[in-house]
Amino acid sequence: MIYLNGNFLPIEQAYIPVLDRGFIFGDGVYEVIPVYSRKAFRLGHHLARLQDSLNGIRLSNPHTNDEWCNLITKLIDYHDSDDQYIYLHITRGVAKRDHAFPTNTSPTIFMMSNPLLTPPEELLQKGVLAITAEDNRWGRCDIKAISLLPNVLLRQLAIDAGATETILLRNGFLTEGAASNIFIIKEDRLLAPPKSHLMLPGITYDVVLELVETHSLPYTVRPLTEQELRSANEILLTSSTKEIMPIVSLDGKLIGEGRPGPFFHKLNQLYQHYKELTMRGKQVSSS
Ligand code: PDD
Repeated sequence: MIYLNGNFLPIEQAYIPVLDRGFIFGDGVYEVIPVYSRKAFRLGHHLARLQDSLNGIRLSNPHTNDEWCNLITKLIDYHDSDDQYIYLHITRGVAKRDHAFPTNTSPTIFMMSNPLLTPPEELLQKGVLAITAEDNRWGRCDIKAISLLPNVLLRQLAIDAGATETILLRNGFLTEGAASNIFIIKEDRLLAPPKSHLMLPGITYDVVLELVETHSLPYTVRPLTEQELRSANEILLTSSTKEIMPIVSLDGKLIGEGRPGPFFHKLNQLYQHYKELTMRGKQVSSS
């Protein structure tokens, strides 16, 4: 069952008109929200970022946070898996093709849920490979826009090279991954690139920074150079569906000793513990 414009219906019965601006222009925004033990994780943060993305494309929010919360709860209830991920997508709606915003058009609102398969333990013990590429996306990567063609092309470079992620560099500085945020560890200190228009403000990125702060692990948020990335002791990627993953090779060169390092193991332990506490403590709510 999916949600489309006010109705829950089987995905086979869900259609959108070909003139939808999401289809024609990629004119819309989205969210990906993990659900653990049937509770949406950090829902308030995802809804706040959704609002920022909507502001970024000048589209008003069709629902209050309470309404979103109710719709998401219903969608979760329709599905069997305890762990799911919600894909939420809003476009500027259906209108005659014209770049200018249409007037009096309702947005298209779509949500689906799928089982959440977090990375298997074996992969976390071994680590994954990454490559680098020049970040050739636009100047508003902080908007979670559905127009993902550059990210699609950049991520495919990794797949073609037998790697998991493409790490992006803009003018010699680390921005993020094609579909993740990136951290490095140098001399036992976590280093994170600062939020800007050039990267997505990841919800998992925020959790990582909160955890290192709470547990007094050394960290610094500052611009990171290509040279620092290449000479890191550890590299980590984060996202709502991949959680925290260790990168052990970059462009074919080993990172550190070529296996997940102590900072990853510590941070992942803290993350899993935090997740469990959140799941036990809270029902789905918009905060
Ligand atoms: N992507 N940067 C980019 C470009 C991303 O696409 C994502 C996540 C992130 C991590 O953000 P978060 O921690 O909030 O998931 C960073 C999602 C999972 C996707 O498009 O499927």
